[in-house]
Amino acid sequence: LAVRVRTYRNQDLERVTELICEAFRPRPKRVVARLLKGGGAWDGCDPLVVEADGQVVSSGRAIYPLLMVDGYGWRCGGVAGVCTASEHRGRGYATRLVKALQARMVERGATFSILFTELDSPAHPIYGRLGYFDIARNPVHVWVVDPERLIERWVWRRNQHLRYERRPREALKGWRRTLKLQFRGWRDVWLRFTGRRFKFTSPGGSAEIEVATDLETFLKVTDLPQYIRVVGDRWAYEAAVSEGRLAIRCSPEELDTVRRVLVWDWV
Ligand SMILES: CC(C)(COP(=O)(O)OP(=O)(O)OC[C@H]1O[C@@H](n2cnc3c(N)ncnc32)[C@H](O)[C@@H]1OP(=O)(O)O)[C@@H](O)C(=O)NCCC(=O)NCCS
Repeated sequence: LAVRVRTYRNQDLERVTELICEAFRPRPKRVVARLLKGGGAWDGCDPLVVEADGQVVSSGRAIYPLLMVDGYGWRCGGVAGVCTASEHRGRGYATRLVKALQARMVERGATFSILFTELDSPAHPIYGRLGYFDIARNPVHVWVVDPERLIERWVWRRNQHLRYERRPREALKGWRRTLKLQFRGWRDVWLRFTGRRFKFTSPGGSAEIEVATDLETFLKVTDLPQYIRVVGDRWAYEAAVSEGRLAIRCSPEELDTVRRVLVWDWV
C-alpha cells in the first residue's frame, strides 16, 4: 500500500468535503465545499492530506493562531480538522498526518503547538502519543516564564493602575524612591518611583528599598502572571517573608507601603 502525506490541492475539494462532512457533520456538503473553496477557510493554514493508493483518506490542517497570554500575543502552531474516512480508520493515517502537521509547524518556526479536542474523542490518545499534554485532566500549568517581559508587565500594570485608580495614586503621592529588586538566579532590576509612575533606571548608587527574592516567590506574591488572579496575595506575601523567601530592606515605617506596592493592595 503506497501511503504518502502531501499538501492539499484544489482537485481534492470534493473528497475532502466528503471526509469533513462524514467526520464532523457540520453543514450540507455544498455549503462546506463553498466554504473550503472560496470562503478563505484555509487562508494562512497548511492543509495536508494522506493519500493511500492514490485515494485521499485523511485530511487536516496546521493553523497559526495568536495565543493571547496576559496581553501578549504568542504565535503558535495548532492542529485542526483532523479526520479519516470511516472505512480507513485504525491504520495510523491520522497519526501520520498529525506528525506531518507538526513537522510543517516546526518549519514555519512554531515553538509550541495547541489543539482542542474532546476528552473522549478517538483522536485524544493519538495527540497524547504525539506529545500533546492534556491540561483538562492534569492540574499542572505550563509556565512560560519570560522574566524580562514579566517585569516589564509588572511595571506597566502598576503605571496603568496609577493612572486610573485614585487610591494608590494618593497613597504614593510625593513618594520618591529607588527600588532594587534582586532576583536569585536571574538579575537585579532597578526601578525609580517618581511620584506618579515607576520607571526602569540604570543600576548603581544606593536604593532606599531592596527586595531580595526569587522569581517563583515574586510570581506568587504579586499580581502576575496568573491573569486569572487580578490582585496579589497578601497571605502568600506574609508566608514568603516569614519563610525568608522574600527579604525586604527599607526603613521600618515604609514596610507597609512596600508591601502594598508589591502586592498592589490599596483597600
Ligand atoms: C480520530 C480519527 C481522525 C482517527 O483517525 P485514524 O486514521 O483512525 O487514526 P490512527 O489510525 O492514527 O489511530 C487510531 C487508532 O488506530 C491505531 N492504529 C494505528 N495504526 C494502526 C494499524 N496499523 N493497525 C491497527 N490500528 C492502528 C492507533 O494506535 C489508534 O489506536 P488508539 O488511539 O485507540 O490507541 C478518526 O477516528 C476520525 O476521523 N474521527 C472523527 C473526526 C474526529 O473526531 N477528529 C478529531 C478532531 S480533534
